[in-house]
Amino acid sequence: MNILITGGAGYIGTHTLVELNNAGYEFIVYDNLSNSSQASIKAVEKIINKDVIFQEGDIRDKEALKKLFSKYNIDSVIHFAGLKAVGESVSTPLEYYNNNVYGTLCLLEVMKEFDCKKIVFSSSATVYNEIDSKNYIPLTENNPIGNTTNPYGTSKFMVERVLKDLYISDNSFKIAILRYFNPVGAHESGLIGEDPSGIPNNLMPYISQVAVAKREYLNVFGDDYDTHDGTGVRDYIHVLDLADAHVKALNYLDLMANNNVPLIVNIGTGIGYSVLDIIKAYEKASNKKIPYKIVNRRLGDISKCYANPTYAKEILNWEAKRTLEQMCIDSWRWQKNNPNGYKKG
Ligand code: NAD
Ligand code: UD1
Repeated sequence: MNILITGGAGYIGTHTLVELNNAGYEFIVYDNLSNSSQASIKAVEKIINKDVIFQEGDIRDKEALKKLFSKYNIDSVIHFAGLKAVGESVSTPLEYYNNNVYGTLCLLEVMKEFDCKKIVFSSSATVYNEIDSKNYIPLTENNPIGNTTNPYGTSKFMVERVLKDLYISDNSFKIAILRYFNPVGAHESGLIGEDPSGIPNNLMPYISQVAVAKREYLNVFGDDYDTHDGTGVRDYIHVLDLADAHVKALNYLDLMANNNVPLIVNIGTGIGYSVLDIIKAYEKASNKKIPYKIVNRRLGDISKCYANPTYAKEILNWEAKRTLEQMCIDSWRWQKNNPNGYKKG
């Protein structure tokens, strides 16, 4: 029995391959390499000391997917493939809906045709409404969703709806929707990690590039939020803890009876750290000074967002184990060993 990992060459995908291998699962990676390269797969092979079956291709190419499903006995899918840059999604919404929504429809149609009915989907905390209202923090899964503010977030919301409707039409589908908070860190080998192209949008990769002197200083987006030090607070989660949640979700689906509504679960630590907390922790881990300037708030940002992770513990027996210190140490090791990511030189 094989698991198909769409988007498996990417940041979260590669770390999940390692955890799946540790848990004894067999898998096939399918990725169009639009935001990754096969170098990440080579690095995974080094870590697990085993060849990885990799097929380059797009989830929107149904013929290629059908060939894959005909060739391998695919029992379940972990679906990471998609575009993820919030700002970019505002300028190219059609590309985002095409990749993330239409792409998922293609995948689900082929899965249905081949009677493959187990899927774990990468959703995001970004689907929640009105996060800034104090009443909603920490976020539980039954908070209202859907009042999204950008096409990326809307695409995640739309796919969640598609999956719920698919289950209503056919209750032998077994579906897990994981709502990730802020994944950071890297595998402790320093061989795989986050490799953003261009200027990083997210905090941790930006700080890493400042630490390695690729960038001069960090812009801190606002220090007048209603938080303990005025800077934005988020729920940072080590990518290996996140990867482990996928293994647990898959186990859960394997044991799940038919007629079970989709599992929807927050994957976060439940702890909120501010931008200044992260700078301090990163400085300690790297022994480097992180120069920063306070600038205006970033458009669309909220003051704080962190999970209530109780349901994940209850239903999946999963909880995040790694500390902020570990996240920074691992992120720094990856950055220091690979200042240009997977690109040589
Ligand atoms: P990533 O960009 O590193 O990985 C995504 C992979 O999908 C890439 O390797 C890319 O080449 C591939 N891909 C994109 N479009 C494809 C297509 N049409 N067909 C085949 N392959 C395609 O991103 P990531 O951080 O690993 O995120 C994985 C998933 O988790 C995404 O769906 C993302 O939206 C979601 N997510 C990520 C975060 C985060 O902060 N990283 C937070 C919440 C949710
Ligand atoms: C981003 C995405 C969100 C996604 C989440 C998970 C945006 C607007 N939102 O949110 O959809 O689900 O990642 O990965 O991109 N910060 C700085 N300086 C920087 C970068 C960030 O001060 O150069 C601050 C931000 O204001 C925020 C915190 O750091 O307070 C975290 O930012 P970021 O890493 O971009 O994540 P999110 O804003 O949570």
